[in-house]
Amino acid sequence: MASTLMRALAILGLAVSSAFASLPTTTIYQSPAMLPFENIAVRASGELLLTSVYSPVLYSLDASSGTLTDVITIGGGATSLLGISEFSADNFAVVAAEFNATTDTEVGGTVAIWHVCLTGSTPVATNIASLPSSVIGANGLSAIFGSSTVFVADSGSGTIFTIDMSSGAVAVGVQAAALEPVGQLLGVNGLKVSESTIYFTNSAQGTFGSIDILPGATLNASSITTLGTLEDGAPSAQHLFDDLALDTEGRAWVAVHPGSISLFTPNDDQADWVQTDAIVGDTDDYDVFVVPTSCAFGRTPSDATTLYVTTDGGQVVAVDTSGV
Ligand SMILES: *[C@@H]1O[C@H](CO)[C@@H](O)[C@H](O)[C@H]1NC(C)=O
Ligand SMILES: *[C@@H]1O[C@H](CO)[C@@H](O)[C@H](O)[C@H]1NC(C)=O
Repeated sequence: MASTLMRALAILGLAVSSAFASLPTTTIYQSPAMLPFENIAVRASGELLLTSVYSPVLYSLDASSGTLTDVITIGGGATSLLGISEFSADNFAVVAAEFNATTDTEVGGTVAIWHVCLTGSTPVATNIASLPSSVIGANGLSAIFGSSTVFVADSGSGTIFTIDMSSGAVAVGVQAAALEPVGQLLGVNGLKVSESTIYFTNSAQGTFGSIDILPGATLNASSITTLGTLEDGAPSAQHLFDDLALDTEGRAWVAVHPGSISLFTPNDDQADWVQTDAIVGDTDDYDVFVVPTSCAFGRTPSDATTLYVTTDGGQVVAVDTSGV
């Protein structure tokens, strides 16, 4: 989630060009209503699934034609969709809530994890689990693909919840100081599972880190490790890490407000990660991205090295990463 200020700036209509991009970029979609996009998941078909904190509709974007369609509207009074991840073929888990635009938080007691099933001819959405009523900052979500386990970050309490998409059981996976917010800034935000590791960003603390996943899908709180930190100034409402994507080489691409992507490359033993800030975009401007919120790689042969970046300014920007 980004701040209201960022959204206001975006709505003022800041110019968007790729003139300063260090990697080639193409804006493949711009929401006419400047609907802020929050998160993205890619279907095996290549379709991009998009969420917005200002809409209960799950959208699908055809990356080649730039055509946006509604997949399904999540019910139960939801006004906001956040993290989304595929837990088995064409079965997605998504965070839904009623959003309070005044406080820029979710409304306690309305936060739930829904299952969106896209395997049949008609999409079906089912409420699987409610998060505790104290939760007003459910944010990133990532699944252990091929299982019923999904992890959900609560930016407000520094907690990663574990949800069983079959039984609806909700458990605290880990709560830790390294995941907590600071003041009004969000704590643990983006999550991405890769084999037996879950990578996270903490917006308020300006950290990119990892946690080991133990057998049984439990999280080892003692294993929390910081792999990189926000540069170019301390975290603020305007400048922070948002969600991230992993590529097939094990690198992490982290969306950074106000307008860039940082690349983290592991060395052979995964101990020291090389950080490349603004691998694309600008560290202090909106020339390429009007506040990048999340990103994901394409899944078809023609776009496997394309990173799709969602923004608070209602864009989906395709980044050609084949050069790196
Ligand atoms: C949103 O927050 C404002 C300010 O705290 C409050 O007055 C209002 O009742 C909240 N709306 C909902 C739906 O909770
Ligand atoms: C959890 O992580 C710590 C630190 O890496 C490690 O010493 C410990 O053995 C791990 N626990 C388990 C059960 O793997």
